[in-house]
Amino acid sequence: MAFPQSFIDELIARNPIEDVVGQYVSLKRSGSNLFGLCPFHGEKTASFSVAPDKGIYYCFGCHKGGGAVNFMMEVEGLSYPDAVRALAKRAGMEVPEDEQYQSRYRHQERLWALMKEAGRFFHEQLFAPVGAECLSYVQKRGLTKSTVTRFGIGFAPNSWNSLVDAMRKKGYTDQELRDADLVGEKNGRIYDRFRNRLMFPIFDVRGNVIGFGGRVLDDSKPKYLNSNETLIFNKRKNLFGMNFAKKTKEPYIILVEGNIDVVALHQYGFDNAVASLGTSLTEEQVTLLSRYTEQVVLTYDTDEAGQRAAQRAIPMLEKAGLKVKVLQMKDAKDPDEFLHKFGADRFKLLLQDSSDRVEYQLNAIRQKYDLKVDAEKISFVQEAAGLICTLDSSVKREVYGSRVAEAAGISMDAMKLEVNKAFKRRTAMEKKKQEKIDLAPVRALQPKERSIRYDNIKSAIAEEGVIAQILREPALLEQVGKITEKDFSVSLFGKVFSQLRARHMQGLDVSIAVLEELTPEEVSHITGVAQRHQGTVNQDAFTDCVNRILSEGQSTRVSTDDDLRALQEKLKAKKGTNL
Ligand code: CTP
Ligand code: MN
Repeated sequence: MAFPQSFIDELIARNPIEDVVGQYVSLKRSGSNLFGLCPFHGEKTASFSVAPDKGIYYCFGCHKGGGAVNFMMEVEGLSYPDAVRALAKRAGMEVPEDEQYQSRYRHQERLWALMKEAGRFFHEQLFAPVGAECLSYVQKRGLTKSTVTRFGIGFAPNSWNSLVDAMRKKGYTDQELRDADLVGEKNGRIYDRFRNRLMFPIFDVRGNVIGFGGRVLDDSKPKYLNSNETLIFNKRKNLFGMNFAKKTKEPYIILVEGNIDVVALHQYGFDNAVASLGTSLTEEQVTLLSRYTEQVVLTYDTDEAGQRAAQRAIPMLEKAGLKVKVLQMKDAKDPDEFLHKFGADRFKLLLQDSSDRVEYQLNAIRQKYDLKVDAEKISFVQEAAGLICTLDSSVKREVYGSRVAEAAGISMDAMKLEVNKAFKRRTAMEKKKQEKIDLAPVRALQPKERSIRYDNIKSAIAEEGVIAQILREPALLEQVGKITEKDFSVSLFGKVFSQLRARHMQGLDVSIAVLEELTPEEVSHITGVAQRHQGTVNQDAFTDCVNRILSEGQSTRVSTDDDLRALQEKLKAKKGTNL
């Protein structure tokens, strides 16, 4: 590892987990743990826990967990060394920099600087003679000078080498241009990737230029050329306009489809508009939204694709605990067109009128059926009942139920029956699903983290026990007999075991927070294991686990499904006791 161990130990000691997390999450004490709303998956009830004595956090909802460094990596999207640097800064410590990390960090900084320079270059070109045509396009689209400046909008000239030349002159290498995905390459020669396009810089929430979206100036294809993933650009994790929208005073965010819609909305005074980056909405983007707001107003294009995208986005946003409303426009295909046609005041009215998502979805269902035809009327009521039965308040079910009843011309009693039937169907379906999961023991006991697999469940469970107990009581490391890293069937546990033992032998602290060379998923998994196996340390149980690891490690017997089922029964019966 690049940073000296003693430095990391001090770093962790000087950054208490509750203080680090407390900067992002408001925490309430409950027993020896603290609880709050998870910053990683958005939720309504607190399943995010912090254990100050262990120096760790863990979310029982999304299973993310780890120490202070992992927390900073997750919450700020930082690399390991950058998270260490951030914590060092917080504690006023000097960072002993390692060559390799320093060079990676420098590389990243170079790419940020390069992207900023490239953005500046494109922006200048827009106002140079070569940008005349693009500038008139910008004006035709109704964008003001101050909007263009604020968003850093620019023009990539119709040339193979103007950006390459300009950046070389500034001292950037060909490799850096490649790494920033600003160039293409043929026969060993690089050339400008973006040509004759209107350029939208993409900023991360901290305001760094991390990518570009380039739009054609006519109807040619492809309409947009976007930066591909680079060391500093991850499409799934960013939203266009979030760097501005995060500062809004409005209690909601307007989510639209197009870059141009975002820009137009901001120009008309709606400083809370964002768009996903040419991808359909991702889980990561939803998480990002839930970090800055509690409500989202979906304002997708009025065409069928836009409406389909809205239907898909609704459950994703709701799952993250966000309140969802849907804004619907008439006589304009998107917010950009609407604003230019009707102005900001009319758009404000639409915002006020935006319906909550249930209303929107009921409308969408209704439009599928011709209520004059009896058979279709029945299908309408059934599908609507399917939606209504998912609502969590009886008042809501009553209100929307009566609307459907009215539209279909049936009594409220009949509607209630229909909703109940739908509810029963749903629970039956869920039960079936659950049974399927319960009947698949191997799968049920597999870790949630997809990169980690238990090939020998029996041994893996014993290994979980050993690791969890050691983390609670490091002195147990003196009683592990001749177990070695190789006896573990799960290599992750073996790795953790040998790290912990080495530290204990040197008289160093043993905790999750000090583990090294693990991926975020691995850290989350270990934290989950520690949290699941609660309770005080039990000598016999520990010895038992150790013996089981030894015997499993030496036997080549493959567990049968029956074995596993029996084991699972045992585990069920033992829930609540130690191990
Ligand atoms: N997009 C993309 N690649 C395409 C088309 C679209 O990446 N070939 C992304 C862009 O981020 C774009 C968004 O999807 O902003 C919405 O697409 P569209 O509505 O076609 O573009 P707008 O930016 O709204 O442009 P315009 O108003 O000129 O149609
Ligand atoms: Mn559009």
